[in-house]
Amino acid sequence: MVKQTESEPSQLSRRARKLLGKAAKAGFDPSVLREITNSAINDAHSQDRGRATREDIRSHLGAELNHRIANRTDPDLSGLRSFDFTMRVPERTETFTPTEARIYIDGCDYPKTVDDLLLALEVQGRFNPDGGIRNMRVLDAMCGPGRLGREFLDLGVPSVTFHDGSEIMTTHARDQAAIYAEFGQGVDVVTSSADNIPLPDGTFDLVVCHNSIHQLASIGRLRIVMQEFLRLTVPRGHVIIADYQRATTPGFLESLEERLRYTRPEIVPLLIPSFIAAFSGDEFRSVLGSLPNIETWSVTDAKPPILTPQMQQRVAEDPVKGHLMDYSPISLRVIAQKKLA
Ligand SMILES: C[S@@+](CC[C@H](N)C(=O)[O-])C[C@H]1O[C@@H](n2cnc3c(N)ncnc32)[C@H](O)[C@@H]1O
Repeated sequence: MVKQTESEPSQLSRRARKLLGKAAKAGFDPSVLREITNSAINDAHSQDRGRATREDIRSHLGAELNHRIANRTDPDLSGLRSFDFTMRVPERTETFTPTEARIYIDGCDYPKTVDDLLLALEVQGRFNPDGGIRNMRVLDAMCGPGRLGREFLDLGVPSVTFHDGSEIMTTHARDQAAIYAEFGQGVDVVTSSADNIPLPDGTFDLVVCHNSIHQLASIGRLRIVMQEFLRLTVPRGHVIIADYQRATTPGFLESLEERLRYTRPEIVPLLIPSFIAAFSGDEFRSVLGSLPNIETWSVTDAKPPILTPQMQQRVAEDPVKGHLMDYSPISLRVIAQKKLA
């Protein structure tokens, strides 16, 4: 236990000093680091009524440094090296603001992107031995621009519902999918928070959520949203989460830096906070293991795809080369099958 009156260095554990050392190496100004340290000490003490431990202070310091790093836009990405990946720092908001939605649509929904096509093909491959996806009603949950749902419609899925909390996203998704509706495929849209989607139980054979679940504020929220996805799924139906993960291995950090080097500059400031906010594999496992209505589940690293010559051509035509890096060790797959009853 430490008292608020002690001088600053004596309140810092060895791990806290290590964090500061890394941040200094990544170019944080000493006066800024002093300011961050003082504010972490004060926050920890005010939360624990002056009785914060060194570990409490380290945790506040780590969170504060992570916020600063997430908001840095240094072109050489050196800030990433000072981030403490054992700590999750949530995004500022869950649902995108109108400005974020517009930037995301402009940056990510371009004609030659293969990002969602690769995932749709992966999902198709998974279900092929069991009758395929051509009879499935699919929810593209937290769909953003709705690219994934459109890829499923292209692959012959009879109906897709696009869901997001941002009306800018659902309007865009509806407009872009209108052509499929004209040719008789089911296209629906629902705008709501992911924890309360106003549709009946068992509406979908498959709920898929791509690179969005990391937006959730906490593990508690992850649990609630997973329950909601399972509620919407038919008995024996599936929920698939494809997302980034947060890890601490050297390979993870190297792959992440490589990925960000291949990311459009305007998207980098949106993407770094996403990795800092991503849930770890173990965090997913703790949630999945606690849900009552799951028959089977798995949490695994995302495996890179085996590309046909035609897909190699499509990938080569995508100006964003980073999509082929969105696999192990920086992304994971969660697959849950709902119980029969
Ligand atoms: C990073 S974007 C990804 C969009 C899309 N799935 C993709 O892969 O391009 C995250 C999306 O999740 C939505 N979102 C985040 N939290 C949400 C929540 N609690 N309820 C509904 N939508 C949410 C945001 O509005 C945003 O459109």
